Parts: sequence; C-alpha cells; structure tokens
Amino acid sequence: MASTSLDQPDVTTPSLYLDGIPHDRFAKMRNAPGLTWHPYEASGFWAVTRHADIKECSKRSEDFSSGIGHTNLWDLEADALEARRSILDMDAPEHTRLRRLLAKAFTPKAIRVWEDLTREIAAELLDDYLEAGGGDWVEMVAAPLPIRVILNILGVPVEDADFLVELSNYIIEGTSDQMSLAPDAYGNTTELRLLPFASPASHALFEYGERIADERRAEPREDMVTLLVQLEDEGGKMSHNEFKNLFHALILAGNETTRTAITHGAMAFTDHPDQWQRLVDDPHLLYQGVEEVLRWGTPLIHMRRTAAVDTELGGTQIAKGDKVVMWYSSSNRDDTVFEDPFTFDVGRDDNDHQAFGGGGPHFCLGAFLARMEITVLLEEMMARNMSFDSRGEPQRASSNFVHGILSLDLEVSSLD
Ligand code: HEM
Repeated sequence: MASTSLDQPDVTTPSLYLDGIPHDRFAKMRNAPGLTWHPYEASGFWAVTRHADIKECSKRSEDFSSGIGHTNLWDLEADALEARRSILDMDAPEHTRLRRLLAKAFTPKAIRVWEDLTREIAAELLDDYLEAGGGDWVEMVAAPLPIRVILNILGVPVEDADFLVELSNYIIEGTSDQMSLAPDAYGNTTELRLLPFASPASHALFEYGERIADERRAEPREDMVTLLVQLEDEGGKMSHNEFKNLFHALILAGNETTRTAITHGAMAFTDHPDQWQRLVDDPHLLYQGVEEVLRWGTPLIHMRRTAAVDTELGGTQIAKGDKVVMWYSSSNRDDTVFEDPFTFDVGRDDNDHQAFGGGGPHFCLGAFLARMEITVLLEEMMARNMSFDSRGEPQRASSNFVHGILSLDLEVSSLD
C-alpha cells in the first residue's frame, strides 16, 4: 500500500489560511507517492491533492460517496446529517432526481437570460465604486453583485440582499475558528449540530426561505422559488426538507463562491497590472482570463467524499468508511497539468482547472452562472478602462474551506 504520512502535513488548521493557501505543504503531498494520510479529529482522512486523482475520485461516485458521513471534513451524527442534507450530500438516485429538477434553470441558455440584468447591476456598482475612488472591493462590488443576481433568479426581494449577505457571512464563519454569534441569535432554538455549518444564521436562512415559500404559495410568480414550491406541493417531487436545504444551498453557493472569485480576480489584476493591460488590449483573451481567475482564486478549498467500499485511489488502498478529501487549491497548482502553475497568465490555454470540482455528478450546478457574472464584470471594468492600486493587505478568512477575503481596500481610477 503506497501512502505517505508527512512529518507535518497539517492543512486543516483554519488560521493557517490567514497567510494564504499553504502551497508548500500541498506541493509536498502532491510530490509524495500515493495519497497522504492526514490526521484530523479522532481519526483522519486521505488527502487527494493531484489533479488526476481528484478527477477520478469525483467521477467514481459509487465508490466515493457524498451521501455517507458528510461532504465537509467533520462527521455528523445520523439525525444531524438528515436534517442538514443538501444536494451536495446525496448519492444517486436521490441526487439525480433533485439535480434533474434544477438543471434546466442553470444551462447556458437559461443563464443568458440574466446577462443584461447582471450588466446593469455591475455597471451601477462599478460607477459608484469609481466615483468613490475605490474602497472595500468586497463590500462595494464583489458581495453585492452575485447576491443580487441570485435573488433575482430565485425571485427573492433584492432589498433583502444585505441581510442575506450578513447571514451568509455568519454561516461561513462555521468553517473557521471564529464564531461570533450566540447560539440563540436570530431567535434560534434548534441545537446547533442540526443546522448547516452549526450556525444560528442557518436557522434564520431556513426561516427566511419558509416565509418566501409561503408567500409564493399564496401568490405564485414566474420565479424559481415558485417553481420549487410547486415541485414540493403539487408533484411531491421534492420533500419539504429538500426545499429548505436547497434554498439555503442556493443562497450560500450563489453568492459566497462567486464573491470570492471576483475578489481574487481584483487582487490578481492589482498584483499583475501587465495581465490587466494585456486583457484590456486584447479582449479576445476574456474567455481564458475568466478561467484563469477561477483557477488562480479557487474559491472552494476542498470537498470530501467517503469510501463506500474497500477500494484503491492514486495507488493507495482505501478502506470502506475512510474519508477522502479533494483539495482543489492543490490540484489547480499541479505542474503535471498546468505549465508554470504559480504564474497568473490570462492567455493560458487548455485551462482544465478544478475550481468547480473534478467533474462527475456533483460538478458545480452554478458554473455557467458564475462564469457569466465574472465575464460581465470584467467586460464592464474593461469598458471603463479601470486601473487599480492596493491600499493595504487584504483581510483573509480563517477557514480551510472557503478561500475567503473579508475585505480588500483598493484605489481605483478610470484612465479615460
Ligand atoms: C466561482 C463560483 C463558484 C465556485 C468556485 C463553485 C464551486 C463549486 C464546487 C467545488 C462544487 C462541488 C463540486 C463537487 O463536489 O464535485 C459546487 C457545487 C455546487 N454549486 Fe457551485 N461554485 C460556484 C458558484 C455557484 C453558483 C453561482 C451557484 C448558483 C446557484 C452554485 C451552486 C452549486 C450547487 C447547487 C452545487 C451542488 C451541486 C451538486 O451537488 O449536484 N455554485 N460548486
């Protein structure tokens, strides 16, 4: 059995990420034979750090289950897993059924419908940002854009965007070692272990989803919440618990990850002004530029699977029940796939990055939406011939799950 236990393989301590991704540790694991056994809580997990192994693990969903245990690092008790189970934590056939119900709303054709609105939102945010001469990019541009878009798609009042961003921020704290809410915040009385990311803000988001669902039941509209409510009520195609967790997942996934990508994009272009100029001079590079922003930023650091059978991956024997964790932050710097992986290159071709996962049934449902939002934002930034400078170090999240930037102070001007 090829496996490696490095002297110090720790990549799970959240505070490590305050200094950025621990790339040196991931490189050691990528270069070691087999998978690396990584201690974690009472037992540990197999760290999958190479691109090819992540692709295989993602595709072999019968061997590497999303429904057993949990898709985050820590295990959940059976009742907590049931209460918190989202589309991410399911296997076929439940997963296939739920995914099919949603897939149509997220195809490139369906997403194109939202492009004009996204452009309007991006233009308004960028104009305000330019007028102010810059400021916190996260608060002023990166956070409001994706939440406003997903709220429009869902049919949720856009006036509630700030409240929902606030809830998302608190929920994501659940992946860090910095929890700032009291257990009874937002009137929560549910045991925290039964709530996604053990956060009382998840209770508030569940309640919010229920309220919107009741409103759409009383007065249906042409929006996604109405569609989901009808699937639950009329067809019985979706259970109530599935609705609750799906609404929660769509709000969270629809805003947190794209915000992070947009922020890493702004940081990368600030740090590499030559690459920004290259894009402005040659807008044909936009497609590659967007993919490079996604690879460079890799907004989600990992996802977990659990072995459903005794099996093998990357030359390592894995026992049924073992946790297997795919580290996208590592695979997106794998030099067997990416030439000069630590170079930010907006002209990079064949950029087979794994920011949206390694393929297989759980591949990011919102990938086209995220790509469209980033593309439109960059187009609007290019149209304004923006230039930016850093006004200080970004404030990073203490999290091993989201590659989050809490604030990024930039100075901007328009060169026109
Ligand atoms: C840059 C932005 C985004 C990134 C980096 C990202 C990344 C990911 C990753 C890594 C996964 C898990 C893949 C796997 O386990 O194999 C995922 C799943 C998912 N994403 Fe995204 N995502 C982004 C944007 C979005 C958006 C805008 C939505 C919109 C609703 C969304 C909805 C989802 C959903 C519902 C799943 C679960 C899919 C399933 O289990 O079948 N994501 N995403």
